[in-house]
Amino acid sequence: MSRNRQQKKIFYKVDPWKIIETDFDPQTNFLSETVFSLGNGNLGIRGSFEEGYDGPAGTSMEGTYLNGFFEKVPIHYDETAYGYATHTETMLNVPNGKLIQLQIEDEVFSLFTGTIEKYRRELDLQQGILRRYTRWVSPRGKIVDIEVERMVSFAEDSLVLIRYAVTPVNFNGTVQVISMLDGHVHNQTAENDPRIGTSLTGQTLKLEKLEQKEDASKLLQVTTHSKLQVLSCIHNLIESGHCINRMNHAHGQMLVHRYTFAAKMGERISLTKSLLYLRSDRVPPDQLWEMADTILETVKQQGWAHYHMVQRQVMDDFWMHCDIDIAGNDELQQGLRFNLFHLFQSAGRDGSTNIAAKGLTGEGYQGHYFWDSEIYIVPFFIYTQPWIARKLLEYRFNTLDQARRRAHTLFRKKGALFPWRTITGIECSSYYPAGTAQYHINADIVHAIRQYEMATGDWEFILNFGAEIIFETARIWLYIGAFSGGSPQRFCIFTVTGPDEYTALVNNNFYTNAMAKSHLNYAAALAKRIAREDDEDFSRISRKIDLGAEEIEQWQMAADAMYLPKDEERGIHPQDDSFLDKPVWPFDTTPENHYPLLLHYHPLDIYRHQVCKQADVVLALYLLHDQFSHEEKKRDLAYYEQVTTHDSSLSRCIFSIIGAETGDTEKASSHFLETARLDLDNLQGNAHHGIHTASMAGTWLSLVNGFAGMRISEEGLRFSPQIPVGLTGYSFRIKFRGNCFKVNVSVQETTVKLLEGDGFEFYYGDEKFLLLPEESIQLQRKRE
Ligand code: BGC
Repeated sequence: MSRNRQQKKIFYKVDPWKIIETDFDPQTNFLSETVFSLGNGNLGIRGSFEEGYDGPAGTSMEGTYLNGFFEKVPIHYDETAYGYATHTETMLNVPNGKLIQLQIEDEVFSLFTGTIEKYRRELDLQQGILRRYTRWVSPRGKIVDIEVERMVSFAEDSLVLIRYAVTPVNFNGTVQVISMLDGHVHNQTAENDPRIGTSLTGQTLKLEKLEQKEDASKLLQVTTHSKLQVLSCIHNLIESGHCINRMNHAHGQMLVHRYTFAAKMGERISLTKSLLYLRSDRVPPDQLWEMADTILETVKQQGWAHYHMVQRQVMDDFWMHCDIDIAGNDELQQGLRFNLFHLFQSAGRDGSTNIAAKGLTGEGYQGHYFWDSEIYIVPFFIYTQPWIARKLLEYRFNTLDQARRRAHTLFRKKGALFPWRTITGIECSSYYPAGTAQYHINADIVHAIRQYEMATGDWEFILNFGAEIIFETARIWLYIGAFSGGSPQRFCIFTVTGPDEYTALVNNNFYTNAMAKSHLNYAAALAKRIAREDDEDFSRISRKIDLGAEEIEQWQMAADAMYLPKDEERGIHPQDDSFLDKPVWPFDTTPENHYPLLLHYHPLDIYRHQVCKQADVVLALYLLHDQFSHEEKKRDLAYYEQVTTHDSSLSRCIFSIIGAETGDTEKASSHFLETARLDLDNLQGNAHHGIHTASMAGTWLSLVNGFAGMRISEEGLRFSPQIPVGLTGYSFRIKFRGNCFKVNVSVQETTVKLLEGDGFEFYYGDEKFLLLPEESIQLQRKRE
C-alpha cells in the first residue's frame, strides 16, 4: 500500500549543504518555520521571522522550546478505571525573544507591505547557521537591505544569537530598530488530530518578576503545576550605526528596547541580540539571575565571532563523524544531510532529557519522548556520536524510579515498566490501547542498550546503569505472560499492542514476543556474566533490586519457551494470534483522502481488519536479523507490504531495510527515497507541526543497515553493500569501539578506510578483515 502521500513538490532549492528559500510565500511559511528551525538539544526555536508575521491565519506558529521544560496537568476522563495515566506533561512554548522590528521613518517593515525586491533564506548545514537577506521597498519607496544571521549555540546551550543589520539603499533618515522580549506566549490548543495540540489553553507561564535595564530585559516566569521557572533574557549590543536615542518600555510582559538611528545611505546599522533561557530544573532558582548576568557578560566579551567559530568547530566534528556522501542524486544528498543535522539539533545531551518525536521544532505529540528514541534514533548516535547515545540511555536510568512506580501500580510487584510517552518518566498516554499496552517499550530500550554495548564496549555503563534497567524491565514479561499448556510448554504474552497501532490488545504479538525473548535471554546471560566477572557489582545490583537466582532461571525458561507465532500454510509470521483471521481492510474502496485512516475511522473499525499503520513483524525481522531465514524475511515482507498503509512515518524505512536485504532493491529504493525527504518535501503533510525525528533517523538506518547491510552481533560488524536504484555510489562514516572509519561504496568496489583509532576486525559478507591505522581495504563488490 502506498497511499497516504502528498503530491511530491520540491519547496527549496537543491544544494548539497544548504536549504535555500528564494521566495517568500505565505503558503509555505508554516512548513518553512519547521524546516528553518534551529536547536542544540536543550533549546529550539522555530524559523519564524524576527519582525513577526502578519500573514493569513493558520500559516504560522511561533515557537521557542526548552527540551523537557513542561507543565503537568491532570488528564480528565469521564469514565476512568484503575491504573489509567493520571497526568500528562506538555513541553511549553516559552517567551519569544527573537522579535526585532524595523521602522523606517513612520513605515514598519513587513513582508506583507511594500515590495520584496530580493529574498533569500538559507539554512547552512555545514556551519549550523540560518541567514536571511531581504531587499525591501517600503510603500513610500524607501529601499533597505536587511541581513539577519541566527545561531542557536552549541557552545552555550541556553543561548541564541541574532546578528541583525540594515542598510538604507536610497535614503538618509531615521531608522528605528525595536528589539523585544514577548512573555505573552501559549501553546497551540488541541485540534482534531491526536498527533498535535494540547489541552493547555491560554497563558501557562505566570509572571514572577521582570526587569529592564539599559540594553537588557529579563522575565522570570513559573508554571502553575510543575512549578518550573524559566528566566528569559535578551541583550542588545549595537555594533554599528549612529544611535541618537534609546528608549525602553514595557506593556505587560512585552519588554521593548527602541533604538533610533540617524541612518545614512549605504551605511550599515547593526546589532547583535543575545537571547538566554535559563531553567530552574538545571540552575538552582536562587542563582538564576546571577547566572544570567554572568553568561550575558561573557557573551558580550566573546562576541558573535567567538560563538560562530565554536559553532563551526562543533559542526565540523559532527560531520567528520557522520557525513553521508551521495553520488548521483543531489536531492537525496540534501535530504539526508538535512535529517542528520536536525537529529543533532534535537537530541538532549544531559541525561535528564531525551529526543522528542518532533524534536524542538514544534508542539506535535506535546514534546513527548517515545520508543522512537531507542529503536530509530539511538542507533544513529551509537555509530556517530556515542556519547550522545549514552546520554539518551542515561535518561532512561534517571527515570527508572518512575518506571518502577508504574510497575508497582499495575502489578503490585517489583520491576519497571517504562511509559509509552512521557517527558519526566511518568506515563502520559491517555489512550491505553495504543499507549500503555505497548509493553514492547521495555524490550526496545534494552535492545538499544545491547546495541550500544556491542558497538562501544562501554562495560562501565552496563555495570552502573544498563544492568539495572535490563533486569528490572525483564520482570514485567513474567507478569503479562504465562506458560500455557501443551507440550512442549509455550510462554505466551497476553493483551498487548505491538508497534502497529492499527491493531490493538492482542495475544502473542509477534514483535513483542520476539523482542521479549531476546530481552530475557540477554538479561539471563548478562546476570551470569556480571556474577562471573564482576561479582561485587553483581551483589550490589542484586541487593538493590532484590534479584535471586531463581528469578534469573525463570527468565531463561520463559525465553526458551517463548511462543513465536508461525502460519505454516502461508509460510509467514502472523502479527498476532488473531490477525490472519480478520478480513483485509477494503483498500480498493477507501478514498485516497481517507488516509491516514486514524483521522477517518473509529479505532475499533480499524482494529477489526488486517491493516497496519507501520512495520511490526517486519521490524522484528530487522532488529533480530540473525534469527530468521532469508526466505522467511522475503515472505513476511511480501505479505505485510500488502496490508500496510505506512500511515506512520516510522514505517517505510524498515520496509526498505528488509527489501534491500532480501533483494527487492527497487522497492527498497523507492521507500528510501521517499523517507529521505519526508519533511523537506512535506510528504506526510504535517511537517509544519514539527519534524519527524524517528523517520529522519530511519533514513540513516535505510542506507547504513539497509543498502550497506551493516549488522552487528557479538562477533562484530558485518557489511554486504549494494547501491540503491538511481545512485552511482555513496559513502558514510562509522564509529565503532574507539575507531572511526569511512565506507565508500561504488559500482565496482567497496573501500573501508580507517580515519581514527587503532584498528578493528569486520566481516564483508562471510570473510573477515583486519583494518589497521593508515590503511584502507578495497573489496570487490559482490553482484546483486
Ligand atoms: C507511531 C508511533 C510513534 C509515534 C511518535 C505514532 O504515529 O505510530 O510508533 O512512536 O507516532 O512518533
